[in-house]
Amino acid sequence: MSVSMVLGAQWGDEAKGKVVDLLSQEADIVARFNGGDNAGHTVINQYGTFKLRLTPNGFSNPTTTCLIGPGVVVNLATLISEIQTIAAAGIDLSDRLWISPRCHVVMPYHPMVESVYEMAKGNASTGTTGRGMGPVYADKVSYNGIRLVDMADENVFGEKLIVQLQVKNALFKAVDLAPLDLRTVMAEKLAEYSQIKGMVRESFGLVQKALKDNASILLEGAQGSLLDNTWGTYPFCTASTTVSGGVTAGLGIAPKWINRVIGVAKAYTTRVGRGPMPTELNDATGNVLQNEGKEFGTVTGRPRRCGWFDADLVSFTARLNGFTEIALTKLDVLDSLPKIKIGVGYHPRGHEAVQSHYWEGDAHWLEGYEPEYVEVEGWMQSTKDVRQFKDLPLQAQAYVHRVEELVEVPVRLVSVGPERNATVIIS
Ligand code: GDP
Ligand code: IMO
Ligand code: MG
Repeated sequence: MSVSMVLGAQWGDEAKGKVVDLLSQEADIVARFNGGDNAGHTVINQYGTFKLRLTPNGFSNPTTTCLIGPGVVVNLATLISEIQTIAAAGIDLSDRLWISPRCHVVMPYHPMVESVYEMAKGNASTGTTGRGMGPVYADKVSYNGIRLVDMADENVFGEKLIVQLQVKNALFKAVDLAPLDLRTVMAEKLAEYSQIKGMVRESFGLVQKALKDNASILLEGAQGSLLDNTWGTYPFCTASTTVSGGVTAGLGIAPKWINRVIGVAKAYTTRVGRGPMPTELNDATGNVLQNEGKEFGTVTGRPRRCGWFDADLVSFTARLNGFTEIALTKLDVLDSLPKIKIGVGYHPRGHEAVQSHYWEGDAHWLEGYEPEYVEVEGWMQSTKDVRQFKDLPLQAQAYVHRVEELVEVPVRLVSVGPERNATVIIS
Protein backbone atom coordinates (compact mmCIF):
# COMPACT_ATOMS: atom_id res chain seq x y z
CA MET A 1 0.00 0.00 0.00
CA SER A 2 1.29 3.44 -0.72
CA VAL A 3 -0.20 6.83 -0.10
CA SER A 4 2.04 9.56 -1.50
CA MET A 5 1.58 13.30 -1.42
CA VAL A 6 3.13 15.71 -3.88
CA LEU A 7 3.30 19.21 -2.42
CA GLY A 8 4.76 22.53 -3.49
CA ALA A 9 7.69 23.43 -1.23
CA GLN A 10 7.80 27.11 -2.24
CA TRP A 11 5.30 29.61 -3.67
CA GLY A 12 3.65 27.32 -6.24
CA ASP A 13 4.51 26.38 -9.83
CA GLU A 14 7.34 24.09 -8.68
CA ALA A 15 6.43 21.57 -11.44
CA LYS A 16 4.10 19.46 -9.32
CA GLY A 17 2.25 18.62 -12.55
CA LYS A 18 5.28 16.94 -14.04
CA VAL A 19 6.10 15.01 -10.86
CA VAL A 20 2.49 13.85 -10.41
CA ASP A 21 2.41 12.76 -14.06
CA LEU A 22 5.45 10.55 -13.51
CA LEU A 23 4.09 8.98 -10.35
CA SER A 24 0.55 8.60 -11.72
CA GLN A 25 1.76 5.88 -14.05
CA GLU A 26 1.65 3.58 -10.99
CA ALA A 27 -1.34 5.11 -9.18
CA ASP A 28 -4.82 3.65 -8.72
CA ILE A 29 -6.22 7.01 -7.59
CA VAL A 30 -4.91 10.54 -8.12
CA ALA A 31 -6.74 13.06 -5.96
CA ARG A 32 -6.77 16.82 -5.45
CA PHE A 33 -7.65 17.94 -1.92
CA ASN A 34 -7.26 21.74 -1.91
CA GLY A 35 -7.55 24.90 -3.98
CA GLY A 36 -9.49 25.35 -7.17
CA ASP A 37 -8.88 26.63 -10.66
CA ASN A 38 -6.27 29.06 -9.33
CA ALA A 39 -3.94 26.09 -9.88
CA GLY A 40 -2.27 25.50 -13.23
CA HIS A 41 -0.37 22.22 -13.48
CA THR A 42 1.50 21.64 -16.72
CA VAL A 43 1.79 18.09 -17.94
CA ILE A 44 3.41 16.88 -21.13
CA ASN A 45 2.40 13.30 -21.88
CA GLN A 46 1.70 11.03 -24.86
CA TYR A 47 -1.52 12.99 -25.58
CA GLY A 48 0.05 16.45 -25.72
CA THR A 49 0.57 19.40 -23.37
CA PHE A 50 -2.13 20.18 -20.80
CA LYS A 51 -2.41 22.91 -18.22
CA LEU A 52 -4.68 21.33 -15.64
CA ARG A 53 -6.59 23.62 -13.29
CA LEU A 54 -9.00 21.19 -11.59
CA THR A 55 -8.72 17.73 -13.08
CA PRO A 56 -6.37 15.51 -11.06
CA ASN A 57 -3.37 14.62 -13.14
CA GLY A 58 -3.95 10.91 -13.59
CA PHE A 59 -5.90 10.94 -16.81
CA SER A 60 -3.11 9.61 -19.03
CA ASN A 61 -3.16 6.27 -17.20
CA PRO A 62 -6.37 4.42 -18.26
CA THR A 63 -6.56 2.51 -14.97
CA THR A 64 -6.34 5.58 -12.72
CA THR A 65 -9.38 7.09 -11.02
CA CYS A 66 -9.19 10.90 -10.82
CA LEU A 67 -10.82 12.31 -7.70
CA ILE A 68 -11.67 15.93 -6.95
CA GLY A 69 -11.85 15.73 -3.17
CA PRO A 70 -14.23 17.63 -0.88
CA GLY A 71 -11.62 20.25 0.05
CA VAL A 72 -11.47 21.54 -3.53
CA VAL A 73 -13.65 24.42 -4.70
CA VAL A 74 -15.06 23.92 -8.17
CA ASN A 75 -15.55 26.39 -10.98
CA LEU A 76 -17.95 24.40 -13.16
CA ALA A 77 -17.16 26.22 -16.41
CA THR A 78 -13.42 25.54 -15.99
CA LEU A 79 -14.02 21.91 -15.15
CA ILE A 80 -16.32 21.34 -18.12
CA SER A 81 -13.88 22.91 -20.55
CA GLU A 82 -11.06 20.78 -19.12
CA ILE A 83 -13.09 17.57 -19.45
CA GLN A 84 -13.82 18.57 -23.06
CA THR A 85 -10.15 19.25 -23.81
CA ILE A 86 -9.22 15.84 -22.43
CA ALA A 87 -12.07 14.23 -24.39
CA ALA A 88 -10.75 15.89 -27.56
CA ALA A 89 -7.48 14.04 -26.92
CA GLY A 90 -9.46 10.79 -27.01
CA ILE A 91 -9.91 10.22 -23.26
CA ASP A 92 -13.40 9.86 -21.84
CA LEU A 93 -13.33 10.64 -18.12
CA SER A 94 -17.01 9.99 -17.38
CA ASP A 95 -16.34 6.69 -15.58
CA ARG A 96 -12.97 7.69 -14.13
CA LEU A 97 -13.59 11.15 -12.73
CA TRP A 98 -15.19 11.45 -9.30
CA ILE A 99 -16.21 14.85 -7.94
CA SER A 100 -17.15 15.05 -4.29
CA PRO A 101 -20.67 16.44 -3.68
CA ARG A 102 -19.16 18.26 -0.69
CA CYS A 103 -17.12 20.52 -2.97
CA HIS A 104 -18.12 24.17 -2.74
CA VAL A 105 -18.97 25.85 -6.02
CA VAL A 106 -17.45 29.10 -7.27
CA MET A 107 -20.38 31.37 -8.10
CA PRO A 108 -20.18 34.41 -10.41
CA TYR A 109 -20.20 36.74 -7.41
CA HIS A 110 -17.04 35.29 -5.89
CA PRO A 111 -14.53 36.77 -8.39
CA MET A 112 -16.55 40.02 -8.24
CA VAL A 113 -16.27 40.25 -4.44
CA GLU A 114 -12.57 39.42 -4.73
CA SER A 115 -12.00 42.23 -7.20
CA VAL A 116 -13.87 44.72 -4.96
CA TYR A 117 -11.46 43.90 -2.13
CA GLU A 118 -8.37 43.82 -4.34
CA MET A 119 -9.20 47.24 -5.77
CA ALA A 120 -9.98 48.71 -2.35
CA LYS A 121 -6.58 47.55 -1.08
CA GLY A 122 -4.69 49.16 -3.96
CA ASN A 123 -0.95 48.66 -3.50
CA ALA A 124 -1.60 46.35 -0.56
CA SER A 125 -3.59 43.89 -2.70
CA THR A 126 -2.62 40.21 -2.73
CA GLY A 127 -2.37 40.00 -6.50
CA THR A 128 -4.68 36.99 -6.73
CA THR A 129 -5.42 34.90 -9.81
CA GLY A 130 -8.90 36.45 -9.85
CA ARG A 131 -10.68 33.08 -9.56
CA GLY A 132 -12.71 33.98 -6.46
CA MET A 133 -10.77 31.73 -4.10
CA GLY A 134 -10.80 34.02 -1.04
CA PRO A 135 -14.56 34.70 -1.19
CA VAL A 136 -15.61 31.10 -1.96
CA TYR A 137 -13.59 29.70 0.97
CA ALA A 138 -14.82 32.60 3.16
CA ASP A 139 -18.42 31.65 2.32
CA LYS A 140 -17.60 28.03 3.11
CA VAL A 141 -16.33 28.72 6.62
CA SER A 142 -19.05 31.26 7.36
CA TYR A 143 -21.86 28.82 6.40
CA ASN A 144 -22.77 30.72 3.26
CA GLY A 145 -21.38 28.35 0.68
CA ILE A 146 -23.23 26.47 -2.03
CA ARG A 147 -22.03 22.91 -2.54
CA LEU A 148 -22.49 20.57 -5.46
CA VAL A 149 -24.91 18.53 -3.34
CA ASP A 150 -27.08 21.66 -2.97
CA MET A 151 -27.27 21.99 -6.73
CA ALA A 152 -28.77 18.52 -7.06
CA ASP A 153 -32.03 19.97 -5.71
CA GLU A 154 -33.22 23.06 -7.58
CA ASN A 155 -35.28 24.28 -4.62
CA VAL A 156 -32.41 24.03 -2.15
CA PHE A 157 -30.09 25.71 -4.65
CA GLY A 158 -32.61 28.48 -5.39
CA GLU A 159 -33.21 29.24 -1.69
CA LYS A 160 -29.49 29.47 -0.98
CA LEU A 161 -28.81 31.57 -4.04
CA ILE A 162 -31.57 34.07 -3.15
CA VAL A 163 -29.95 34.76 0.23
CA GLN A 164 -26.46 35.08 -1.23
CA LEU A 165 -27.56 37.40 -4.02
CA GLN A 166 -29.44 39.62 -1.57
CA VAL A 167 -26.26 40.23 0.41
CA LYS A 168 -23.80 40.27 -2.49
CA ASN A 169 -25.96 42.53 -4.66
CA ALA A 170 -26.22 45.03 -1.79
CA LEU A 171 -22.42 45.20 -1.81
CA PHE A 172 -22.26 45.52 -5.61
CA LYS A 173 -24.82 48.33 -5.53
CA ALA A 174 -22.76 50.18 -2.92
CA VAL A 175 -19.68 50.09 -5.15
CA ASP A 176 -21.58 50.89 -8.37
CA LEU A 177 -21.41 47.42 -9.86
CA ALA A 178 -24.37 45.93 -11.71
CA PRO A 179 -26.26 43.42 -9.53
CA LEU A 180 -26.50 39.79 -10.59
CA ASP A 181 -29.83 38.43 -11.78
CA LEU A 182 -31.13 35.40 -9.88
CA ARG A 183 -32.73 33.66 -12.86
CA THR A 184 -29.72 34.14 -15.10
CA VAL A 185 -27.25 32.82 -12.52
CA MET A 186 -29.49 29.91 -11.64
CA ALA A 187 -30.07 28.88 -15.24
CA GLU A 188 -26.38 29.13 -16.10
CA LYS A 189 -25.19 27.15 -13.10
CA LEU A 190 -27.86 24.44 -13.38
CA ALA A 191 -27.02 23.98 -17.06
CA GLU A 192 -23.35 23.53 -16.11
CA TYR A 193 -24.20 21.20 -13.24
CA SER A 194 -26.28 18.99 -15.52
CA GLN A 195 -23.18 18.35 -17.63
CA ILE A 196 -21.14 16.91 -14.76
CA LYS A 197 -23.76 15.52 -12.39
CA GLY A 198 -23.04 11.94 -13.41
CA MET A 199 -19.53 12.33 -11.99
CA VAL A 200 -20.63 13.89 -8.70
CA ARG A 201 -20.43 10.98 -6.28
CA GLU A 202 -19.53 10.63 -2.62
CA SER A 203 -15.86 9.65 -2.43
CA PHE A 204 -15.36 8.60 1.19
CA GLY A 205 -16.22 4.97 0.47
CA LEU A 206 -13.98 4.91 -2.61
CA VAL A 207 -11.00 6.20 -0.63
CA GLN A 208 -11.56 3.94 2.38
CA LYS A 209 -11.91 0.86 0.16
CA ALA A 210 -8.72 1.81 -1.67
CA LEU A 211 -6.87 2.06 1.66
CA LYS A 212 -8.22 -1.32 2.74
CA ASP A 213 -7.26 -2.89 -0.59
CA ASN A 214 -3.68 -1.57 -0.34
CA ALA A 215 -4.21 0.49 -3.48
CA SER A 216 -1.78 3.17 -4.53
CA ILE A 217 -3.12 6.67 -3.87
CA LEU A 218 -1.41 9.82 -5.06
CA LEU A 219 -2.41 13.15 -3.55
CA GLU A 220 -1.80 16.13 -5.80
CA GLY A 221 -1.27 19.31 -3.81
CA ALA A 222 -2.07 22.65 -5.37
CA GLN A 223 -0.26 25.96 -4.76
CA GLY A 224 2.74 25.84 -2.44
CA SER A 225 3.43 25.71 1.29
CA LEU A 226 4.39 29.39 1.43
CA LEU A 227 0.94 30.24 0.05
CA ASP A 228 -0.77 28.30 2.86
CA ASN A 229 -3.49 30.35 4.52
CA THR A 230 -1.99 29.87 8.00
CA TRP A 231 1.75 29.31 7.45
CA GLY A 232 2.32 31.27 4.26
CA THR A 233 3.11 34.94 3.85
CA TYR A 234 -0.37 36.08 4.97
CA PRO A 235 -2.18 38.04 3.53
CA PHE A 236 -0.10 37.39 0.40
CA CYS A 237 -1.19 33.78 0.29
CA THR A 238 -4.09 31.67 -0.93
CA ALA A 239 -7.35 30.73 0.76
CA SER A 240 -6.85 27.00 1.33
CA THR A 241 -4.64 24.76 3.42
CA THR A 242 -1.83 23.75 1.11
CA VAL A 243 0.28 21.78 3.58
CA SER A 244 0.27 18.03 4.27
CA GLY A 245 -2.14 18.37 7.18
CA GLY A 246 -4.79 19.64 4.75
CA VAL A 247 -5.31 16.19 3.30
CA THR A 248 -7.17 14.88 6.34
CA ALA A 249 -9.99 17.37 5.96
CA GLY A 250 -9.63 17.91 2.23
CA LEU A 251 -9.90 14.27 1.23
CA GLY A 252 -10.87 12.20 4.27
CA ILE A 253 -7.62 10.30 4.73
CA ALA A 254 -6.30 9.95 8.27
CA PRO A 255 -2.66 11.03 8.80
CA LYS A 256 -1.57 7.50 9.72
CA TRP A 257 -1.99 6.35 6.11
CA ILE A 258 0.49 8.74 4.50
CA ASN A 259 3.84 7.13 3.80
CA ARG A 260 5.53 9.50 1.34
CA VAL A 261 5.45 13.28 1.41
CA ILE A 262 7.29 14.57 -1.64
CA GLY A 263 8.21 18.23 -1.53
CA VAL A 264 8.60 19.65 -5.02
CA ALA A 265 11.11 22.51 -5.07
CA LYS A 266 12.50 24.43 -8.00
CA ALA A 267 16.30 24.69 -8.06
CA TYR A 268 15.68 28.44 -7.66
CA THR A 269 12.65 30.41 -6.40
CA THR A 270 9.68 31.98 -8.17
CA ARG A 271 6.58 33.74 -7.00
CA VAL A 272 3.53 35.23 -8.77
CA GLY A 273 1.59 38.02 -7.12
CA ARG A 274 2.63 40.32 -4.32
CA GLY A 275 4.32 39.71 -1.00
CA PRO A 276 7.83 39.31 0.36
CA MET A 277 10.36 37.21 -1.54
CA PRO A 278 13.74 37.69 0.13
CA THR A 279 15.95 36.13 -2.57
CA GLU A 280 14.26 37.92 -5.50
CA LEU A 281 16.64 39.12 -8.23
CA ASN A 282 15.76 42.27 -10.12
CA ASP A 283 18.80 42.08 -12.35
CA ALA A 284 20.27 40.29 -15.36
CA THR A 285 20.49 36.97 -13.46
CA GLY A 286 16.79 37.24 -12.60
CA ASN A 287 16.12 37.72 -16.32
CA VAL A 288 18.14 34.60 -17.14
CA LEU A 289 16.01 32.57 -14.72
CA GLN A 290 12.82 34.02 -16.15
CA ASN A 291 13.75 33.48 -19.78
CA GLU A 292 15.41 30.08 -19.42
CA GLY A 293 12.65 28.86 -17.10
CA LYS A 294 9.86 30.42 -19.21
CA GLU A 295 8.51 31.82 -15.98
CA PHE A 296 5.08 33.13 -16.85
CA GLY A 297 1.97 32.24 -14.81
CA THR A 298 -0.01 29.26 -16.15
CA VAL A 299 -3.38 30.75 -15.14
CA THR A 300 -2.88 34.49 -15.60
CA GLY A 301 0.16 34.76 -17.90
CA ARG A 302 1.80 37.18 -15.45
CA PRO A 303 5.63 37.13 -15.37
CA ARG A 304 6.80 35.20 -12.33
CA ARG A 305 9.26 36.92 -10.00
CA CYS A 306 12.53 34.95 -9.92
CA GLY A 307 15.40 34.59 -7.46
CA TRP A 308 17.92 32.26 -5.84
CA PHE A 309 16.96 29.04 -4.06
CA ASP A 310 16.05 29.89 -0.48
CA ALA A 311 17.11 26.98 1.73
CA ASP A 312 15.80 28.65 4.88
CA LEU A 313 12.30 28.63 3.39
CA VAL A 314 12.48 25.09 2.09
CA SER A 315 13.91 23.71 5.34
CA PHE A 316 10.92 25.35 7.04
CA THR A 317 8.38 23.82 4.62
CA ALA A 318 10.19 20.47 4.89
CA ARG A 319 9.58 20.39 8.62
CA LEU A 320 6.07 21.83 8.38
CA ASN A 321 4.97 19.11 5.95
CA GLY A 322 7.24 16.28 7.04
CA PHE A 323 8.80 15.89 3.60
CA THR A 324 10.28 12.42 3.24
CA GLU A 325 12.05 13.47 0.03
CA ILE A 326 12.58 16.39 -2.30
CA ALA A 327 11.97 16.48 -6.04
CA LEU A 328 14.33 19.22 -7.27
CA THR A 329 13.02 20.60 -10.55
CA LYS A 330 14.24 22.87 -13.36
CA LEU A 331 17.92 22.30 -12.56
CA ASP A 332 18.62 22.88 -16.28
CA VAL A 333 17.53 26.51 -15.91
CA LEU A 334 20.76 27.16 -13.96
CA ASP A 335 22.95 25.63 -16.71
CA SER A 336 24.43 28.91 -17.98
CA LEU A 337 25.24 30.58 -14.65
CA PRO A 338 28.94 30.75 -13.64
CA LYS A 339 28.17 31.28 -9.92
CA ILE A 340 25.02 30.31 -8.03
CA LYS A 341 23.85 31.59 -4.67
CA ILE A 342 21.70 29.83 -2.09
CA GLY A 343 19.83 31.74 0.63
CA VAL A 344 20.61 30.28 4.05
CA GLY A 345 18.83 32.64 6.46
CA TYR A 346 18.15 36.30 7.13
CA HIS A 347 19.28 39.24 9.19
CA PRO A 348 17.53 42.53 9.88
CA ARG A 349 18.63 45.16 7.34
CA GLY A 350 21.79 46.81 8.72
CA HIS A 351 22.25 44.24 11.56
CA GLU A 352 24.26 41.47 10.04
CA ALA A 353 25.16 39.87 13.36
CA VAL A 354 21.52 38.96 14.12
CA GLN A 355 20.54 35.67 12.50
CA SER A 356 16.89 34.97 11.81
CA HIS A 357 14.58 32.51 10.10
CA TYR A 358 11.39 32.82 8.06
CA TRP A 359 9.21 31.27 10.75
CA GLU A 360 10.12 33.92 13.35
CA GLY A 361 7.87 36.59 11.86
CA ASP A 362 5.10 37.37 9.44
CA ALA A 363 5.11 38.81 5.93
CA HIS A 364 5.42 42.37 7.21
CA TRP A 365 8.33 41.38 9.48
CA LEU A 366 10.09 39.66 6.58
CA GLU A 367 10.07 42.87 4.52
CA GLY A 368 12.56 44.33 7.04
CA TYR A 369 15.03 41.47 6.62
CA GLU A 370 17.55 40.54 3.97
CA PRO A 371 18.90 37.13 3.04
CA GLU A 372 22.32 35.66 3.72
CA TYR A 373 23.89 33.59 0.96
CA VAL A 374 26.45 30.94 0.30
CA GLU A 375 27.93 30.96 -3.20
CA VAL A 376 28.71 27.82 -5.18
CA GLU A 377 30.24 27.14 -8.59
CA GLY A 378 27.99 26.80 -11.61
CA TRP A 379 28.55 24.05 -14.19
CA MET A 380 28.20 26.05 -17.42
CA GLN A 381 27.03 23.13 -19.55
CA SER A 382 23.71 21.62 -20.54
CA THR A 383 22.08 19.08 -18.22
CA LYS A 384 18.99 18.63 -20.42
CA ASP A 385 19.99 15.21 -21.74
CA VAL A 386 21.29 13.79 -18.46
CA ARG A 387 19.31 10.81 -17.13
CA GLN A 388 21.61 9.46 -14.40
CA PHE A 389 22.92 11.31 -11.39
CA LYS A 390 26.52 10.26 -12.05
CA ASP A 391 26.32 11.92 -15.48
CA LEU A 392 25.46 15.34 -14.06
CA PRO A 393 28.41 17.76 -14.07
CA LEU A 394 30.25 17.52 -10.73
CA GLN A 395 29.25 21.08 -9.78
CA ALA A 396 25.59 20.20 -10.41
CA GLN A 397 25.93 17.08 -8.25
CA ALA A 398 27.50 19.27 -5.54
CA TYR A 399 24.61 21.74 -5.86
CA VAL A 400 22.04 18.97 -5.32
CA HIS A 401 24.00 17.68 -2.29
CA ARG A 402 24.23 21.20 -0.87
CA VAL A 403 20.46 21.55 -1.11
CA GLU A 404 20.04 18.20 0.68
CA GLU A 405 22.40 19.25 3.47
CA LEU A 406 20.75 22.62 4.00
CA VAL A 407 17.18 21.34 3.84
CA GLU A 408 18.01 18.11 5.69
CA VAL A 409 15.89 15.99 3.37
CA PRO A 410 17.21 13.69 0.61
CA VAL A 411 16.70 14.67 -3.02
CA ARG A 412 15.24 11.61 -4.79
CA LEU A 413 14.34 13.15 -8.15
CA VAL A 414 16.02 15.82 -10.25
CA SER A 415 14.16 17.29 -13.21
CA VAL A 416 16.17 18.66 -16.14
CA GLY A 417 13.41 19.47 -18.62
CA PRO A 418 9.60 19.65 -18.87
CA GLU A 419 9.16 16.26 -20.57
CA ARG A 420 8.38 13.13 -18.59
CA ASN A 421 11.69 11.45 -19.43
CA ALA A 422 13.85 14.50 -18.64
CA THR A 423 14.24 13.15 -15.15
CA VAL A 424 17.01 11.75 -12.96
CA ILE A 425 15.81 9.34 -10.28
CA ILE A 426 18.17 8.91 -7.33
CA SER A 427 17.56 5.59 -5.60
P1 GDP B 1 2.93 23.35 -11.08
O1 GDP B 1 1.84 24.35 -10.89
O2 GDP B 1 3.71 23.11 -9.83
O3 GDP B 1 2.45 22.05 -11.69
O4 GDP B 1 3.96 23.98 -12.12
P2 GDP B 1 3.59 24.77 -13.49
O5 GDP B 1 3.14 23.77 -14.48
O6 GDP B 1 2.71 25.92 -13.21
O7 GDP B 1 5.00 25.36 -13.88
C1 GDP B 1 6.12 24.55 -14.13
C2 GDP B 1 6.63 24.87 -15.55
O8 GDP B 1 7.95 24.36 -15.71
C3 GDP B 1 5.82 24.21 -16.66
O9 GDP B 1 5.82 25.05 -17.77
C4 GDP B 1 6.59 22.92 -16.94
O10 GDP B 1 6.38 22.42 -18.25
C5 GDP B 1 8.01 23.39 -16.77
N1 GDP B 1 8.96 22.37 -16.28
C6 GDP B 1 8.73 21.33 -15.44
N2 GDP B 1 9.87 20.70 -15.12
C7 GDP B 1 10.85 21.35 -15.78
C8 GDP B 1 12.27 21.20 -15.83
O11 GDP B 1 12.87 20.36 -15.16
N3 GDP B 1 12.96 22.08 -16.61
C9 GDP B 1 12.36 23.05 -17.32
N4 GDP B 1 13.11 23.87 -18.06
N5 GDP B 1 11.01 23.24 -17.29
C10 GDP B 1 10.29 22.41 -16.53
P1 IMO C 1 -0.14 26.03 -8.67
O1 IMO C 1 -1.01 24.88 -8.13
C1 IMO C 1 1.52 30.01 -8.05
C2 IMO C 1 -0.95 32.85 -5.80
C3 IMO C 1 -1.48 34.05 -6.57
C4 IMO C 1 -1.53 35.08 -5.46
C5 IMO C 1 -1.99 34.25 -4.25
C6 IMO C 1 -3.48 34.30 -3.98
O2 IMO C 1 -0.16 26.14 -10.15
O3 IMO C 1 1.22 25.96 -8.08
P2 IMO C 1 -5.55 33.18 -5.19
O4 IMO C 1 -6.05 33.33 -6.58
O5 IMO C 1 -5.21 31.78 -4.81
O6 IMO C 1 -6.45 33.84 -4.19
O7 IMO C 1 -4.18 34.04 -5.19
O8 IMO C 1 -1.61 32.91 -4.55
N1 IMO C 1 -1.28 31.53 -6.39
C7 IMO C 1 -0.40 30.78 -7.05
N2 IMO C 1 0.89 31.02 -7.39
N3 IMO C 1 0.95 28.83 -8.34
C8 IMO C 1 -0.32 28.56 -7.99
O9 IMO C 1 -0.89 27.34 -8.15
C9 IMO C 1 -1.07 29.57 -7.35
N4 IMO C 1 -2.34 29.66 -6.89
C10 IMO C 1 -2.45 30.85 -6.30
O10 IMO C 1 -0.60 34.42 -7.60
O11 IMO C 1 -0.23 35.55 -5.19
MG1 MG D 1 1.21 26.18 -11.67
